[in-house]
Amino acid sequence: MSTAAPEPKANMGRPAPRLDARLKVTGEARYPSDMPFGNLAHAVLVTSTIARGRLTGIETGVARAVPGVLEIFTAESTTSLKHLDYVPGGGGPSTSVQELGPQIAHDGQIIAMVVAETLEAAREAAHAVRPSYARENPSATFGSDGVTEEPAGKEFPKAGDAEAALASADVTIEAEYGTPTQHHNAIELFTTTCLWDGDRLTIHEPSQFVYGLKNAVAKRLDMDPAKVRVVSPFVGGAFGAKAQMTPRTALVAFAAKALGRPVKLVASRDQGFTIATYRAETRHRIKLGARRDGKIVAYTHEGREVTSRPDAYKVAGVADTVRLYDFGTVATKVSVVHADRNTPGFMRSPPVVPYVYALESAVDELAVKLGMDPVELRRINDVTKDTVSGKAWSSRSLMTCYDEAAAAFGWSKRSPAPGSMRDGDWLIGWGCATACYPTHLGATAARVRLLPSGEVRVQVAAHDIGTGAYTVIGQQAAERLGVPLAAVSVDLGDSELPPGPVAGGSNTTASVCSAVIMACDAIREKLLRAASTANDGPLAGRAPGELSFTDGRAVASDGAAESVTDVMKRLGTAALEEYAEYLPPGVPRDSMRQVYGGKAVLTGGPHGDKIMYALGAEFVEVRIHARTREVRVPRAVGAFAGGRIMNPRTAHSQLMGGMIWGIGSALHEATEIDPREARYINDDIAEYLIPVNADVPSIEVIMVPEEDAEVNPAGVKGLGELANVGTAAAIANAVYHATGKRIRDLPIRIEDLLA
Ligand code: MOS
Repeated sequence: MSTAAPEPKANMGRPAPRLDARLKVTGEARYPSDMPFGNLAHAVLVTSTIARGRLTGIETGVARAVPGVLEIFTAESTTSLKHLDYVPGGGGPSTSVQELGPQIAHDGQIIAMVVAETLEAAREAAHAVRPSYARENPSATFGSDGVTEEPAGKEFPKAGDAEAALASADVTIEAEYGTPTQHHNAIELFTTTCLWDGDRLTIHEPSQFVYGLKNAVAKRLDMDPAKVRVVSPFVGGAFGAKAQMTPRTALVAFAAKALGRPVKLVASRDQGFTIATYRAETRHRIKLGARRDGKIVAYTHEGREVTSRPDAYKVAGVADTVRLYDFGTVATKVSVVHADRNTPGFMRSPPVVPYVYALESAVDELAVKLGMDPVELRRINDVTKDTVSGKAWSSRSLMTCYDEAAAAFGWSKRSPAPGSMRDGDWLIGWGCATACYPTHLGATAARVRLLPSGEVRVQVAAHDIGTGAYTVIGQQAAERLGVPLAAVSVDLGDSELPPGPVAGGSNTTASVCSAVIMACDAIREKLLRAASTANDGPLAGRAPGELSFTDGRAVASDGAAESVTDVMKRLGTAALEEYAEYLPPGVPRDSMRQVYGGKAVLTGGPHGDKIMYALGAEFVEVRIHARTREVRVPRAVGAFAGGRIMNPRTAHSQLMGGMIWGIGSALHEATEIDPREARYINDDIAEYLIPVNADVPSIEVIMVPEEDAEVNPAGVKGLGELANVGTAAAIANAVYHATGKRIRDLPIRIEDLLA
């Protein structure tokens, strides 16, 4: 707005402590499964022990005799639940395997649910349920007998004649890379508690998309979505696994209705591996061609991803990797491999984690072959215009990130030859890689209310999945209305609130803050107009453009002021409330209606008029013991540019946590699969390895200032899924530098490094 009042003093950019910090550290924050309800019955799932075949019978006599058992729900007793088509997007069903049999499509498929007076009785009875099966040999993964492969789409990014460019390149590399199966393993388990009040259903479930869950459950129960409410004020980790409706929710709702009392389910850790989604294993074949001077002339990337038998989930990260550098020519292709597995889904930075790992390893291999510093190779191939679409970037600070991180790391002291840096028994390796994440935006509504006391309430059905959303959304309202953060309360995670976007694709801060700005500006305008048009007030007759809104007062440039209370008295209102809808450019016109209906509508990244990405550069040191080959990462430095930083404290946490996650994906995380039975073996967090404090002695996060007025009104790019992207490649590249061994399949383990 050209006639906007002077900006109120900045609230944004402050490292404000989290609004919910005290609640969380004192245990007062109530997560969905913490909600106390009277007359609660407890549910325990029974899951299949085969991965493929048919349930030929299910013996429940012994189980029913366990004292306290109320009911055992099976395929036969739940046929009235409607089947929903699988849609691989936020809010829809996570899988098309929704029935409890008789067809068994993957290991750990829900085949029954026991409900009892106590958790103990339900668990005892669940163990006494005796299914019988007609087992068929399952296909576990890549290379298993019986898998089928198909293209993951019709068109993939392409530019020029990559094969011809490769044929005439001075230097080429060709290599294959692999990433393993991974599970989110949020500390909070998959829980659902359902209560009926007449024909109205309330669901307490940790969710990344309450409107999606509400609408999808209503469809499965064949009821009016207006009568379903989803409540999820706190989420104890989600990482993508809580963005869709899993089969458990409708089942618990159905049981609560049938029994006429509230039912609570807390699925066990191992069940979480199969009743929800995960990151599927991937394979990549990459070719790069370059001129002797380092200019890349060709990039080809064929990706393969595992999915379930019925559903073609894919991440197809070539849509992002082709934007990273000035490749000259590009040819890409992605296929999915159907195996007898549960359907995979979003997991933190879904497309870019495996695909950027592969590309950034290949770029390092090219640098080695060219005898060139890997940072310089990236500088030579930095890009301002997209190779594939010709579109410009909204902003791009990649090389600034490299320069700042390299300086902080001490990269100039690196001796390039593999194995040339050593400290006693420890081989030292230094490596780097690029992190990127598309800037997504979602259609969002928000309601903001200002009281005469100066208190502000912000309401939107967005989600704080541990990222600090309450805080930055509160800061945005405080800044825009010129009140202290302490005067702002924020309501999130309830489908009775105006619809917010799916907490996926790192879009929450950008989208919700943009909607909050709109609602606050409408309030400001009303207030300032009221102040200046008053007949008798201290600001009577002033031009609204001359007034600003600061510390709960309308203030003129000469210092004359009027309090909100007085202005609002004149307006004759107890509160000023505005509802605003933010529709990002490029989303369909009816997006808001779609979000109300439970569909996640996101745009951004490569899809808008401009190429919009947050970027970063990550540097790591690895130390590998010369004899035992133990691998340590004593330090990691990352510099990141993500547009406006709303809160350096929460941003720092996201970026630091991301790099730690990246160390896990390089060295620890992998779900092991029994190749004969297609079952997950290490389905607990004792054997599913993740980094602990001792694995991350030093993580340094640098936030590179970046202003981008084009991405969205808030100027925010999104950080939650950025920093875990480059780390694994940086570590693999450092391992090569330490040892001369190129490990192309993650995770990198001691046995890979024994000579
Ligand atoms: Mo995130 S994996 O986009 O929910």
